[in-house]
Amino acid sequence: MKEYRLIMTIFGASGDLAHRKLYPALYQLYNKGFLADHFAIIGTARRAWDDEFFRQVVKESLSQAKQANENIEDFLSHFYYQANDVKESRQYNQLKKLSLSLSEKYQTQGNQIFYISLSPKLFPVITIQLKNQGLLTDQGYNRLIIEKPFGYDEKTAEELQTQLTQSFDENQIYRIDHYLGKSIVNQILPIRMNNFLSQFLWDPANIDHIQITLDEEIGVEDRGAYYETSGVSRDMIQNHALQLLTLITMDLPANRSNEALRQKKIDRLKQLKHYADLEVLKKHVVRGQYIQSEDQSHVAYRQEKDVASDSTTETYMALKIAIEQDKWANTPIYLRSGKHLNNKQTDIKIIYKKQAENVPANYLQIELAPHAGIRLCLSQSDSTHRNEIKELNLCYHLPRELTKVIPGDYEKLLFDCMNGDLSNFAHYLEVKYAWQFIDSIHALWQEEKDPDLAFYPAQSNGPEAGDYLIEKDNRSWFNE
Ligand code: BG6
Repeated sequence: MKEYRLIMTIFGASGDLAHRKLYPALYQLYNKGFLADHFAIIGTARRAWDDEFFRQVVKESLSQAKQANENIEDFLSHFYYQANDVKESRQYNQLKKLSLSLSEKYQTQGNQIFYISLSPKLFPVITIQLKNQGLLTDQGYNRLIIEKPFGYDEKTAEELQTQLTQSFDENQIYRIDHYLGKSIVNQILPIRMNNFLSQFLWDPANIDHIQITLDEEIGVEDRGAYYETSGVSRDMIQNHALQLLTLITMDLPANRSNEALRQKKIDRLKQLKHYADLEVLKKHVVRGQYIQSEDQSHVAYRQEKDVASDSTTETYMALKIAIEQDKWANTPIYLRSGKHLNNKQTDIKIIYKKQAENVPANYLQIELAPHAGIRLCLSQSDSTHRNEIKELNLCYHLPRELTKVIPGDYEKLLFDCMNGDLSNFAHYLEVKYAWQFIDSIHALWQEEKDPDLAFYPAQSNGPEAGDYLIEKDNRSWFNE
């Protein structure tokens, strides 16, 4: 087992993400022996905590994640806290001193990961200080992990990129998309690359269409202010959904290096066909918003905290997407995502061309949630005298005993970053082309005098317009 040497500095150490995801993920890496004697975690935030208090906070997060066990005290002893106002240059000096002394104490060979789990506005503020105050050393590596959103549109993403690359090169920037840390998502390329049958299963000549569903049961919860600036288009489609689409449809390079694969992802995102005008957009894109649930147990989006009472922010979208200039050009991809739908369902379905009118189409389902797994759905006879057609499901679900061994999404992504493996992080150009696609939709929406919002009750199937989008092509959503 390789033991890794590093110092990880977490900006936003008192935040929800660190509490829910990062500390439990680090503890898993520690329990598996990847982190042992030669690591330190520096937590920084504005609050005036000390090391002791910080360790208690981390301990608390592990007990909530039901992870704490007997070696916890040793793990916690690697955590240090530095109160820090990220805008104050002076404080970076203290951070530097702490980092140097810990590097000495734990012999971390100068390897540093900076994890910023704060508002994106603060990303460049911090990275410029890290450089100017001399925290980036050339002894080991310097890597930066940032959370989404990376910009609000292409223009702001580009500004952010220009600012960040004053301190970090593109190949030192790890942009988190937690979907790319999900184990079943990590299976897509190996399945495509390592199986003879995949040549057939992934040949667009055999595929009728693809459905990608990212339905959520939860509403916007306490994130109304953020969601007002984002909507589902920026919150889920620009990143998670388009990443899934890319993994499913990207070309596989002859040379399977991580760089070549990343380049193929970039190429695919560049080839998403933009909608020509508002007329075309209306035929291919539905935007919706939830209203009060029928049983009145859930309020309308417009009644959520920090949401405008006349908000036109979309909480649901269904789109028909085409890929240009490619063998995929005639294979439509239907994508939908929404908040407050009646089920959590996250999956990709590749639906094959029908063999005969009365025989259901075969399909391949890659399910992320609620049950991570893969299912190939074929047809068979029911073996009775009636000889009726019946489904034959070839299923694989992640076995329970493996869930302890298989890393969770954040654990996987932290581990990849420790290894310098960028393949599960979005390259800037992926982000850029995804924004171009989303921006083109927003630009057309701007032309509308009255936003054409399809309302749907919270905890329902979503708006009828979302079903009609696919039904008018004589197809329907597969809701299994
Ligand atoms: C996040 C979004 O990126 O993904 C949230 O900001 C959303 O709004 C979440 O709820 C969904 O992630 P998952 O892993 O539960 O599908």
